[in-house]
Amino acid sequence: MKHLTGIKELSDSDIRALLDRGHEYAEALDQGDFRSERLKGRVIVNMFLENSTRTRTSFEMAALRLNASLINWDAETSSLKKGESFGDTIRTLGAMRPDAIVIRSAEYEAPHMVAQMVECPVINAGDSWREHPSQALLDTLTLERHFKTKGLSGMTIAICGDVSHSRVAGSDMQIFTRLGAKVRVIAPPFLMPNKFPAQGIETFTSLEDGLPGCDVVMMLRNQKERMNEDLIPSDAAFHRQYGLTHERLTLANKNAVVMHPAPMNRGVEISDEVADDPQRSLIFTQMRNGVPARMAILDLLVE
Ligand code: NCD
Repeated sequence: MKHLTGIKELSDSDIRALLDRGHEYAEALDQGDFRSERLKGRVIVNMFLENSTRTRTSFEMAALRLNASLINWDAETSSLKKGESFGDTIRTLGAMRPDAIVIRSAEYEAPHMVAQMVECPVINAGDSWREHPSQALLDTLTLERHFKTKGLSGMTIAICGDVSHSRVAGSDMQIFTRLGAKVRVIAPPFLMPNKFPAQGIETFTSLEDGLPGCDVVMMLRNQKERMNEDLIPSDAAFHRQYGLTHERLTLANKNAVVMHPAPMNRGVEISDEVADDPQRSLIFTQMRNGVPARMAILDLLVE
């Protein structure tokens, strides 16, 4: 495992090793052990060409927790604005010999392209609508910790809403099925992908039909920056038909948990009461687990 470009490129043992190291870091952080010298002296470059709150900050937090240094390269003030090509920008950074590059880009398979141009490990922090593997690892770490299991066998997980534009769904469908879960996609027909990156996905066009029997309900934001503006004319109408409310959540299994990669659009795909339900919502736990999951990624790829 030299790079983390997608779940697709990981072997089963790579996935297990990343999750196991993630568990170790999560437990250490829970015990107040915030110091590791593991990546001391290493320099990591964060290259985010799209907006980010969680992913960018948690890669930064993870690097600092491991005692690495991190540079937040800024697209807005870079020479891309002077007309430099993306390829030349990457070659420039690569020439300075960083120990890893973390990249988020709207361009399809940008991490693969960067990996061919630099010598260091390249980590995908969000590739177009295709894959977001570090999110899939933190989602899986969150489920294994919550349900106190290794692997997800026997679980039924529904991924709901704008699946067709979601790189999180792209990676989650793969990792969840590979770890033994049954995955359902619940989406309106106009947000339903026409093909899936994993086998055996069941599809439903209403929450009422898809939620019964689910242990996990993952909601997604309507990613309007990736769709034609007229596709969802009314957020209120979307909420009435596809928003997760407490009433709808009762259709799922009794102890079903709610996830969301965030950012959330409250009152659209999810109600406040569900997002903030301390018994059912794992949303802020996911954010917490983003740090140990990314510590594991940096550790195994850079060290
Ligand atoms: C997601 C992303 O950027 O793909 N956010 C994240 O990384 N947690 C989901 C989204 O933007 O809706």
